[in-house]
Amino acid sequence: MTTELTLQLGIDVPIIQGGMAWVSGPDLAAAVSDAGGLGVLGAATMDAMELRAAVRTVQTRTDRPFAVNLPLIRLRPDGVDLIEEMVEVILAERVPVVITGAGSPARLTPVLRGAGRLVGHVVPSPELAVKAYRAGVDFVIAESVEAGGHVREGGLATMSLVPQVVDAVPIPVVAAGGIADGRGIAATLSLGASAVQLGTRFVATKECNAHPAYKGSVIRACAEETALYGPRGSVSRGLLTPPVIEMVEMSTAGASDEAISEARGVDRARRGCVEGEVEAGILPSGSAVGLVRGLPTVADLMDELMRDARRSLLAGRQVLGAPAGSMEVHAAAMAVGSLTRTAFSVV
Ligand SMILES: Cc1cc2nc3c(=O)[nH]c(=O)nc-3n(C[C@H](O)[C@H](O)[C@H](O)COP(=O)(O)O)c2cc1C
Repeated sequence: MTTELTLQLGIDVPIIQGGMAWVSGPDLAAAVSDAGGLGVLGAATMDAMELRAAVRTVQTRTDRPFAVNLPLIRLRPDGVDLIEEMVEVILAERVPVVITGAGSPARLTPVLRGAGRLVGHVVPSPELAVKAYRAGVDFVIAESVEAGGHVREGGLATMSLVPQVVDAVPIPVVAAGGIADGRGIAATLSLGASAVQLGTRFVATKECNAHPAYKGSVIRACAEETALYGPRGSVSRGLLTPPVIEMVEMSTAGASDEAISEARGVDRARRGCVEGEVEAGILPSGSAVGLVRGLPTVADLMDELMRDARRSLLAGRQVLGAPAGSMEVHAAAMAVGSLTRTAFSVV
């Protein structure tokens, strides 16, 4: 399946595996890239040496494009800014794509693009998409409040966010948040997205380095078992583990941000994701968790996602009045694509 962004990135299918703190290491990123998508190393919880080792591992496993996800606020506990040394690694190790977030892209984008890298930036709103576009990024990732991990408090859902971002900027838009199967991919391509970014669905894959207990919790979770938690200005979505339930109750009771920050602690996400402490830890997860079943390999998952996405796009035949698989359907699907500014081809 081809879109403007798959051509730009040099990938075969419009699927990006979201960079995920603690859990998107080289095994996952290499498997996704090797299967034709864009694998992303989550550098939020790596230091420069770990990032260099992870990049080299990916490069030994695949010659396909991959990315590094780099949150722009990276301070060590002693206040030292880690960004410059991370960027040095990215440039020295020839990482082709960088996805930034959690900060202004104005400072780093010219540096990265000047060195020939493609740059994407994660945005929660049309306004911030325009700012990222003006900073010179190649594409934006419109991430909704349905996503796992950090989100914008009171942010828009995917269905309304994606078309508004598509209308706001003349560069490719990636849809993220609440997408976990082929139907979600088809839907967001029809909203004008040029690709999707999935996080939670990739946690429950064989190659993800999340603790097996975390993967099991994601696979077993039901539809309404995630919540937003955290102090104002630093809100995340995760499974309803005891610390998350406590923070939700504190917010409802009007507790101060300081008290909620204290309840969140500093280490609970690592304990949940890496140590598998499903009671005392935090397990980031998006609201589509109820769609996540089974523990496939990345290759099997990507096949299934694309097969179902094609089927959903072609199911438009009833609406468009042409038999599935016919030239008319192909033409109709192209027409849907062009209606939404980002043309895509389903065959
Ligand atoms: C465990 C976990 C950790 C994440 N860490 C990061 C991160 O470090 N940087 C980032 O930009 N996004 C992070 N995200 C968000 C993902 O990259 C992705 O945009 C999001 O998961 C998409 O929504 P979904 O979970 O509904 O698929 C994280 C998500 C999860 C589930």
